[in-house]
Amino acid sequence: MASLSTFEINEPLDMHLHLRDADMLKLVGPLTSNTFSGALIMPNLVPPITTKEALLGYKQRIKEACAKDKFEPYVTLFFKNDYSYEFLADIKDDIIGIKLYPAGITTNSETGVASMDVEVLRPTLESMSKLGIPLCIHGETNGFVMDREKEFMPIYESIAKAFPNLKIIMEHITTKDAIELLDKYDNLYATVTLHHLLITLDDVAGGMLNPHLFCKPIAKRPEDRSALLNAALKAHPKLMFGSDSAPHPKHKKECCGCAAGVFTSPIALQVLTELFEKHDALENLNAFVSLNAQRIYNLFLEKKTIKLVKKDFTVPAIYEYKNENVVPMYAGETILWSIES
Ligand code: NCD
Ligand code: DOR
Ligand code: ZN
Ligand code: ZN
Repeated sequence: MASLSTFEINEPLDMHLHLRDADMLKLVGPLTSNTFSGALIMPNLVPPITTKEALLGYKQRIKEACAKDKFEPYVTLFFKNDYSYEFLADIKDDIIGIKLYPAGITTNSETGVASMDVEVLRPTLESMSKLGIPLCIHGETNGFVMDREKEFMPIYESIAKAFPNLKIIMEHITTKDAIELLDKYDNLYATVTLHHLLITLDDVAGGMLNPHLFCKPIAKRPEDRSALLNAALKAHPKLMFGSDSAPHPKHKKECCGCAAGVFTSPIALQVLTELFEKHDALENLNAFVSLNAQRIYNLFLEKKTIKLVKKDFTVPAIYEYKNENVVPMYAGETILWSIES
């Protein structure tokens, strides 16, 4: 494709996003809602979202924080083994899915599930399958950090086999193994982040340590990144964009005991455009960042076209609001595309 000076994306969707709460929500919410049509919002607040009251209150606060924009927050519930069928039937229309975290594996997941045994998970999964509620999973074991996702593959398989009618989304996949598993089960889908399409462990820790690229799952090997990138560039029909943009205040990143998470909301669409252009795959970007998710989750969206222009944009060193702040990926660096204002 010839080099373009503008590019349009219709109804962009971020199918894995952390918006936090309170002033952090007010800071980061608009940095997604000004460019995205909607986003699947993670429930790992403190405490996690496990009741209808907490869910609807949070959805309302997101809507208020993003009120300037046409933006749909698709909220999720934090998985528990003992949700009753009646509770799930009642909340079904308010959620897009339920997010399962193994206990203690990442930020605010301490109250996640202690066992990934299908029989232990069965009561809630059976109800979800009957009610058609998708299951989003943070798929990592507590093994060696580079092997955690790979070791989780048999668990994905056991759930996919036991619940063939349950839609299962492998969140933020980082390995070639996960890409290969996508094609083995009809009911398995996945999201992939922007940063895992761009970086490997070398960028995090190969030179001077870069805490702003430290996240869970940790970035892997070059061959993993290639497999992820190839699948994204061809807009594999079972793969969706989910930024996993996960803001933490600067003092929790630039310290000993750095929190996991890369903050990409304000640059996501621009850098995706740069990446797809570089690989001559812009014709697949709308599918990767919108159409695949619309089809997988049966979404119907209002029209919202984002126009990008090929014009240098210097990424701010920090975003601030009241006492909150967050450092974005590529802080202070120049990216090639901007959002047309
Ligand atoms: C924040 C985080 O992870 O740093 N999490 C959140 O709001 N879900 C704040 C915190 O650490 O409590
Ligand atoms: O890096 C991460 N940060 N990975 C996650 O799974 C959670 C997230 C967060 O909430 O900060
Ligand atoms: Zn996760
Ligand atoms: Zn996440």
